[in-house]
Amino acid sequence: MSPRHFLTLKDLSSDELKQLLSRATELKKMHREGTLYEPMKNKVLAMIFEKSSTRTRVSFEAGMAQFGGHALFLSPRDTQLGRGEPVEDSARVISSMVDAVMIRTFDHAMVETFAANSSVPVINALTDDYHPCQLLADMQTYLEHRGSIEGKKVVWVGDGNNMCHSYMNAADMLGFNLVVACPKGYEPNEQILSENQHCVTVTHNVQEAVTGANLVVTDVFASMGQEDEQEQRLRDFDGFQVNQKLMALAAADALFMHCLPAHRGEEVTSEVIDHPDSVVWDEAENRLHAQKALLEFLICN
Ligand code: CP
Ligand code: NVA
Repeated sequence: MSPRHFLTLKDLSSDELKQLLSRATELKKMHREGTLYEPMKNKVLAMIFEKSSTRTRVSFEAGMAQFGGHALFLSPRDTQLGRGEPVEDSARVISSMVDAVMIRTFDHAMVETFAANSSVPVINALTDDYHPCQLLADMQTYLEHRGSIEGKKVVWVGDGNNMCHSYMNAADMLGFNLVVACPKGYEPNEQILSENQHCVTVTHNVQEAVTGANLVVTDVFASMGQEDEQEQRLRDFDGFQVNQKLMALAAADALFMHCLPAHRGEEVTSEVIDHPDSVVWDEAENRLHAQKALLEFLICN
């Protein structure tokens, strides 16, 4: 039987996603109470990082340790993947020795190829196209602060990037309305948009978009791999900063989220990040709990 993978949020059904979010909150409570729960004794997670990371690495590594298992950090600098060993061959070899593989890379097709040749579950820990693990944490955070997100207005401000695409999938699966407010030329991928069309609107008018929003989310203007475009993007994203003036247009109960790391003073001001309506620190911590729920779902089921 081929293993379950988590390459995009849509590898889960809506019901599985909702169950996983509630399990994440349960695991968080157990962790806070100091309950020992080690379902992954002798289990190993291989973590392939072709891009930098703080939250993703720490949360997966800490999560495996707390579950009584082990996580293995693999960088292309010191594995044969970085010297051109085919992804297919690497997948067969690595998956024959571990219980799950987590990958952060550039091309989404790489994780698909890896998964197609892996005998164990593969988790997408960010590609140029998607960041589904972050959405688990974001949706858990909204649920914990405000209850169900169904029917709410969520506004994505900024680049139509990997995070934006995963928000589009979440809107479809959890039934919220997503408005993407981006500069011309930075719209989300058309194919992913067409898959989620009924619940996503794209606009270039950020003020109109944020009006009445229950959740406002943004991300860096230039993602990893786009460092050369930083200066151009700073100019193109003029007017798309999330600041207090913009947040004042949102609904009274609006939350602010950012997957982090943030460029304070660029896409968001410090005032907004450090405001009581900002839940970015809970969002970051929930990476741990949500991914523990994901690991349990993929490895122990
Ligand atoms: N949000 C997120 O994925 O952070 P890292 O790049 O630090 O892992
Ligand atoms: N869009 C950002 C997210 C970082 C967690 C990037 O891909 O760099």
